[in-house]
Amino acid sequence: MTEGWDTREYDRDFAFVSAYGAELLDWLNPQPGETVLDLGCGTGELAAKIAGTGATVIGIDSDPAMIEAARQRLPGADIRVADAHDFTVEQPVDAVFSNAALHWMPSSVEVLGCVSDALRGGGRFIAEMGATGNVAAITGAVDQACREAGLPERSWPWVFPSPAQYAAMLEDAGFEIRELDFRDRPTRLTGDDGLVRWLQMFAGGVLADVPPEVLARGAEIARPQLWRDGAWWADYRRLRFRAIKVS
Ligand code: BEZ
Repeated sequence: MTEGWDTREYDRDFAFVSAYGAELLDWLNPQPGETVLDLGCGTGELAAKIAGTGATVIGIDSDPAMIEAARQRLPGADIRVADAHDFTVEQPVDAVFSNAALHWMPSSVEVLGCVSDALRGGGRFIAEMGATGNVAAITGAVDQACREAGLPERSWPWVFPSPAQYAAMLEDAGFEIRELDFRDRPTRLTGDDGLVRWLQMFAGGVLADVPPEVLARGAEIARPQLWRDGAWWADYRRLRFRAIKVS
């Protein structure tokens, strides 16, 4: 995952990430006394909600700044810097939860292996991630602006599987899929410069060599598709699932 997040800006201007994630908590339906692992817990906003239900939370994120923010939000909780491709837990957990994080993890197969190993038999994996076509209008517009400026092609840092691809990987990792939802979810960004700030927050690494005027040109190209009702709307497309580890 990207490292060195500005966690304050993330919580302030990209609060929709956790706000939409709150819907996913209904799918998780945490119970008092359960142990839930939040994979890619970020600043811990949803982990805190899970803890508020009486469940014990383990939070994992690869970014130290995110983990520091999550620790402040959840003093005393088990919040760790760890790589989702290579983590273990001491005792099997009842559920693994992940909101808007799996698409940052390049090897889904490795991640699913760790998730499966971390769960007890019959435990559940509840997650939402970007799916095939996610933010394609944004990346397509920036790609075009870069081409016009003679800049090299970007290699975007996310994986957005199709429902069929991800379902196959879940089954290969020993999960039974109980619910799977694939849908467009246009997501309103804050401010007239919302699209450029989204790019700076979530794609700053791959865009480090792109001058501001080229990013502005990307926004101009995207505007007919993504600006409406006085706001930028990111073309999010979500994959959400509930899967059970077969014992
Ligand atoms: C997403 O949640 O779909 C997403 C967030 C940041 C970058 C790319 C995708």
